[in-house]
Amino acid sequence: SRPTGTTKQKVVDVHTHMYPPEYISLLKSRSSIPMVRTFSNAPEPRLILLNAEVDLVAAMESGSSSTLPGRPLTSHYSDLAQKIHFMDTHGIDISVISLANPWLDFVPSADAIPIATSIAKEFDDMCSSHPGRLFFFAALPLTAPLDSLNAWVPQLKKAKYCRGVILGTSGLGKGLDDPELLPVFEALETAGLMIFLHPHYGLPNEVWGPRATSNNEYGHVLPLALGFPMETTIAVTRMYLAGVFDRFKSLRMLLAHSGGTLPFLAGRIESCILHDGHLVKEGKVGPSRRTIWEVLKEQIYLDAVIYSEVGLKTALQASGADRLMFGTDHPFFPPLTSDEQGEWESVGLNAEAVTRALGSGTQEEAAVMGGNAVVRSPLGRSGVGSTVRW
Ligand code: URA
Ligand code: ZN
Repeated sequence: SRPTGTTKQKVVDVHTHMYPPEYISLLKSRSSIPMVRTFSNAPEPRLILLNAEVDLVAAMESGSSSTLPGRPLTSHYSDLAQKIHFMDTHGIDISVISLANPWLDFVPSADAIPIATSIAKEFDDMCSSHPGRLFFFAALPLTAPLDSLNAWVPQLKKAKYCRGVILGTSGLGKGLDDPELLPVFEALETAGLMIFLHPHYGLPNEVWGPRATSNNEYGHVLPLALGFPMETTIAVTRMYLAGVFDRFKSLRMLLAHSGGTLPFLAGRIESCILHDGHLVKEGKVGPSRRTIWEVLKEQIYLDAVIYSEVGLKTALQASGADRLMFGTDHPFFPPLTSDEQGEWESVGLNAEAVTRALGSGTQEEAAVMGGNAVVRSPLGRSGVGSTVRW
């Protein structure tokens, strides 16, 4: 059933991933994370991505554990027909697909440009096989020599269905407040391409303690529920403190998972700045300073992938109903006790949170479910069609 009820507004999923076949082959050729690995006690190959999963691989190899690491690599990760089936099942008209983590962060420098180019083409071709239903965020060749990376970004304008880039938090190895990244941000701003900021690295394993990492008592809960959102929060706060948003005022960023914890912590960030003797002495807290609240309302968009009305209302208060956009995080978080070809509980939780926070049948609900992505945000930049600008 359609998550928006009876409204005619298109439903758009801005947070939905794929690993195209070429990327899966790459993962199959690897023996460290990220990798695809087959184990004798499992029917399906396993997709092993996270640092928090490494100890379990070792335990499996040494025979001290029979718990399978990672997640089953189902057809949902790489099969386009499966993505379209998922969209149809959930009443999603348009998906803005992106490569999932860790993108091309691990690719050897010399391979980065050819692989990024070929993956972008694979995505553009997938989109062109379902015109009007699919658009994509490209993955950047961040390990390429800087000059080639900077020259690559403007080329994305030629990809018909590209609407932005998906970016992790590591940048060139020193995070997103690295001055060396400024030309990349400038090129993205000039091209009108949105940045979809997405976590992968979480927090160091020590934070979770031995019961989590050695004994696997808590599954993936700590890194996914807490590590991912903190990582996003830290990355965007570092960009803010480094003045990236002041420098590139037309740069637009979509933050995964409703901004991590940024909406909740924005007041504390502000207060810590105002009360920081060092920053005040350096003249960084003057009257012309843009607050994090202003950046949230002017340059930042938040997805609605937070699974509850409480978090979504915080996001809403921080950024506004015109800056929130529905997402699913498909193919992650599949249902474990019902048919994967049917409705996904994880999708239902996010759609229900939108309805509860914005009100059933309201214009704001329709805006968050799709209207904001189509018309108001830079994602709708290029005037495709008459009413729907995708
Ligand atoms: N787990 C991941 O590794 N990535 C996602 O996007 C969601 C869950
Ligand atoms: Zn995701």
